[in-house]
Amino acid sequence: MPLTRKAYRAAILHSIADPAEVGIEASYEYFEDGLLVVDNGQISAIGHASELLPTLPADIDITHYQDALITPGFIDTHIHLPQTGMVGAYGEQLLDWLNTYTFPCESQFADKAHADEVADIFIKELLRNGTTTALVFGSVHPQSVNSFFEAAEQLDLRMIAGKVMMDRNAPDYLTDTAESSYVESKALIERWHGKGRLHYAVTPRFAPTSTPEQLTLAGQLLSEYPDLYMQTHISENLKEIEWVKELFPERKGYLDVYDHYQLLGERSVFAHGVHLCDDECARLAETGSAIAFCPTSNFFLGSGLFNLPMAEKHKLNVGIGTDVGGGTSFSLLQTLNEAYKVVQLQGARLSPFKSLYLATLGGARALRLEDKIGTLLPGTDADFLVLDYNATPLLSYRLKQANNIAETLFVLMTLGDDRTVLQTYAAGALVHQR
Ligand code: GUN
Ligand code: ZN
Repeated sequence: MPLTRKAYRAAILHSIADPAEVGIEASYEYFEDGLLVVDNGQISAIGHASELLPTLPADIDITHYQDALITPGFIDTHIHLPQTGMVGAYGEQLLDWLNTYTFPCESQFADKAHADEVADIFIKELLRNGTTTALVFGSVHPQSVNSFFEAAEQLDLRMIAGKVMMDRNAPDYLTDTAESSYVESKALIERWHGKGRLHYAVTPRFAPTSTPEQLTLAGQLLSEYPDLYMQTHISENLKEIEWVKELFPERKGYLDVYDHYQLLGERSVFAHGVHLCDDECARLAETGSAIAFCPTSNFFLGSGLFNLPMAEKHKLNVGIGTDVGGGTSFSLLQTLNEAYKVVQLQGARLSPFKSLYLATLGGARALRLEDKIGTLLPGTDADFLVLDYNATPLLSYRLKQANNIAETLFVLMTLGDDRTVLQTYAAGALVHQR
């Protein structure tokens, strides 16, 4: 294949470390007039345009953007594909919300044509919002994952997904069995895990909807294949936590259920963790597990406030998740807007550089993909965004009052949404143009 080389000139910003570990100033690189060079789908250079341009051939293809910011693609560490059609379902908290809205909506994915249609809508929506990698829950039906991976493969996206395992406490029309969930997950792993930029996640929905037998087989799958992911929910809602205590009285707590079935580890991502205690955070950190912080969902379902400072104290890996359809936006910018308020309500501060970290490098670290995505460092996949400072009249006017990149970034996260994403690139190819 001939070398395809392209360069993109604009302001460029990326996170290179966690502000909680190195301080804010050392956590990012910003080039006011920057250049990003892409060779065959990978980033080959990043720097000041004035320094890089003389090193490049005179005829290099350069796209120059005015009033725009290039950032890494966003990483959504928790989202449900089959809940695309039920965002904004009124009036319930988690357990009643699942029974009233979620399960009926997910049942439609028994039909492959429906799964294909929604997978297409879902992926377009991710890309419109600047999300280039997501950790995705399918429904209980394997075809939900096949439809998703088929569509993601066409665009060479880096995506992770799994079929929900759920063999009790859900309607009959939506349950598998321990055995069938094992066999169906295995077939999906054989077909998709490691194909192109796709990865598989073993996906027990949450402790209440799996029998001990099913959780045992989920742990067995993880031991049978290298680098598999595990995704589930934990400690989101107080009634849910009480229910887990009733169902698993022999375990010390909610996390201990998953620990007992060997579901913790470096590629395990637990959504929510709103009500985790200190010991549970310590155990998550010790096993290298990660939390997906889902602020719009935690507000919408009335679940509570995630304690980010406690997670930082334990050096726990944290990414950000939309949790659509419990979450109310596909936009990680809007999700960060709500994250800021969660932290405000606890008397602390969420710096815009920490927010940028959560949506990019922090998410990549939670997924153990930091050598491939999450920054714009040379050698990583060219998954990046062009954010438009003039996306709306208010954004345009407000950003003219900003004095530095910290203010600009914070305003982008407060006022920004899908309209802010002018272009999305995946593996160097343009996959969304506003
Ligand atoms: N817990 C178990 N299933 C779900 C779900 O679909 N969404 C959320 N937010 N929490 C869950
Ligand atoms: Zn969820």
